[in-house]
Amino acid sequence: SISELQQLHDFACKLARRAGQYLRGEQVRRQKQTLVTREKLNSVDLVTAADEGVEKLIRDAILAEYPEHAFIGEESYSAGEEKRFLLKDGPTWIVDPIDGTVSLEFIVPMTAISIGFCVNSIPTVGVVFAPFIGGSLYSAIHHSEGGAWLSEFGPTGPSTNLPIVSPPPPLPKDAPKGCLFFGEWGKDRRDSPQSNLVKKSSNFINMATEIGGRDGKGGMVHGIRSLGSSTMDMVYVASGQGDIMFEAGCWEWDVCGGIAILLQTGGIVVDSNPPANISDTDPIPMANIGGRRYLAIRGCSTDSDGRSPRE
Ligand code: IPD
Repeated sequence: SISELQQLHDFACKLARRAGQYLRGEQVRRQKQTLVTREKLNSVDLVTAADEGVEKLIRDAILAEYPEHAFIGEESYSAGEEKRFLLKDGPTWIVDPIDGTVSLEFIVPMTAISIGFCVNSIPTVGVVFAPFIGGSLYSAIHHSEGGAWLSEFGPTGPSTNLPIVSPPPPLPKDAPKGCLFFGEWGKDRRDSPQSNLVKKSSNFINMATEIGGRDGKGGMVHGIRSLGSSTMDMVYVASGQGDIMFEAGCWEWDVCGGIAILLQTGGIVVDSNPPANISDTDPIPMANIGGRRYLAIRGCSTDSDGRSPRE
């Protein structure tokens, strides 16, 4: 029910802020000491002691409060024996303790803690907290009576939850002209030479740079940004701070929280090579996100009941 979801949402928001505070402390310690960083799949896939500490904090708190729920976290998953991602229909938390670990390593502030909660394999609660970017906390309950909110840490403390969408501006009629794009290239480097990464994203790059535009009517996108955190791209697109994001292949935990927020604001995740009429495309289910190349597209508007036209 909506009141249960509200409880889960409020719990996750508090937990994300607590984890953020811990992460800020860890980052200060890391800067003073030798950095403890290991490689996972390859030299661009990193894990720090901070990733593990944040995940432990979140996991322990969730399992203490909701022992009957399943928990999937980036670091426990990577360290474990289960190498196939299995999303079942029961209540499941999907957590990325630090999305943007490479940025953390370089002290670039574009790093977020992502807490997602799925029911029936659908991202239903999402909380994304960026402790180094003004303490921005994006969150949503994906439900007809839910909502999507952004609170930021202002000079007088955290602002109360402001609706992200009130309502969101429509996508430009001749999109992608005039749109702001985000692109992420994942961590898989097995298919070197790396030019293959360009091949992987060629549809996206073409769409972003074609002078003629997809409909031949001309006009380019405003620009492409790569933030190094797919969850931040996702919430920027969800909140209208961007329009379209491309991902070359990330993991479920990178985007589960962000997808709940995107869905609630009327956005959609589709194949990376959608037909010209994007709204005719079937959305990609959460269970099939991992390793896929996809686009996340901002929602257009909500009607007076707060419902998105795609619901
Ligand atoms: C990574 C980021 C990146 C995406 C990678 C992810 P991490 O997450 O989200 O944008 O392209 O696929 O692995 O490893 O920093 O949590």
